[in-house]
Amino acid sequence: MTSQFDALHDRRSTDSLKWHKFSSDVLPMWVADMDFAAPPAVTEALKTRVNHPIYGYTHDLPGLAEAIQVHLTRHFDWQVPGEAIVYLPGVIVGFNLAAQALAKPGGSVVFHTPVYKPFFGVAGNAGLRQVEVEMHQDGHGRYLVDWERFEAAIADLASLFLLCNPHNPVGRVFEQEELARMAEICLRYGVPVVSDEIHSDLIYSGHRHIPIASLSPEIAKNSITLMAPSKTFNVPGLGFSFAVIPDPELRERFNTSRRGIVGWPNLMGMIAARAAYAEGQSWLTELRLYLESNRDILVEYVNTYLPLAKITVPEGTYLAWIDLSAYNLVPTPCEFLIKNARVGLNDGMEFGPTGAGHVRINFACPRSTLLEGLNRIRSALENVTASL
Ligand SMILES: Cc1ncc(COP(=O)(O)O)c(C=O)c1O
Repeated sequence: MTSQFDALHDRRSTDSLKWHKFSSDVLPMWVADMDFAAPPAVTEALKTRVNHPIYGYTHDLPGLAEAIQVHLTRHFDWQVPGEAIVYLPGVIVGFNLAAQALAKPGGSVVFHTPVYKPFFGVAGNAGLRQVEVEMHQDGHGRYLVDWERFEAAIADLASLFLLCNPHNPVGRVFEQEELARMAEICLRYGVPVVSDEIHSDLIYSGHRHIPIASLSPEIAKNSITLMAPSKTFNVPGLGFSFAVIPDPELRERFNTSRRGIVGWPNLMGMIAARAAYAEGQSWLTELRLYLESNRDILVEYVNTYLPLAKITVPEGTYLAWIDLSAYNLVPTPCEFLIKNARVGLNDGMEFGPTGAGHVRINFACPRSTLLEGLNRIRSALENVTASL
């Protein structure tokens, strides 16, 4: 049976970052945007607005906060008061503003590694120390928190804990016990949690996303949660995200840090967000099924045809973390694959030093594209194993 997500779209004519980074014979499977058309309701809403040729300043779009609230209740059973929602032009903006708002002299930003590259810029931007807490892997390659080091980092004058859940790049969807333990440690030392939950809508069977702030009113009061329609509905170029900050005092501090610097998100981003949350839900259900099949195909393929590779099975996100260190690829696995497989991935080192020998692959593409990329990688690596 064919799916709407099987359709091939030529994106080279669209100034797409993903499709312009490499030369035209390299298949890009890197940055986190999807090669799928956004939900038709989003395109319709944008077209309707574009038909009026004046794009002036906008106000709080009627129905947007409500659409977000319904989405959060529906997916996470999380009831959020309207006043707790703060609109932003992006999640990276959000976690940097949070760090400015929460920075204390001599303080630090604590986060688990390997992790999404912009996390490494936050401490420097806010004049804080950076404390990386390396995760470790269990016998199945699943990444777990190092509790002793985490607590020691939080206890050492942390100004904030920056959580990534679901986790990019290792695909963990943290479980209730893990989240409760992180939150409890932070509460005990009076350290606010800033939780990047941008991938929270893309979760696979057997897993459930739990917003850390939803665990208890006390934890909610100590947290800033960052979410967006951008990954979920493939609208990252439209620049809209939001924070949920239930505590009025924390919200005031956050809003003070944005004053004069970060304004209202753009009109089109807000229109797209409202249409996506209000009318894109059945599209999202289909997307999750398609991505889960892609995930299964990818894992099966790697385990069958790339015998020296170790893939971490993503529990959520459309990103997969693959350890290629056993192939000894030079100068790095990523550069080797660009040159020899003509496939563009993310270099593991972007996610911190523990990413050496790894790559991150984006599997949010039509299945034929995924298989094309995998076949190219397989051929290049078979040539390496033949000469080992
Ligand atoms: C964990 C994470 N946070 C934030 C972002 C980017 O968010 P934004 O484009 O809203 O700044 C990404 C994009 O890949 C991401 O993976």
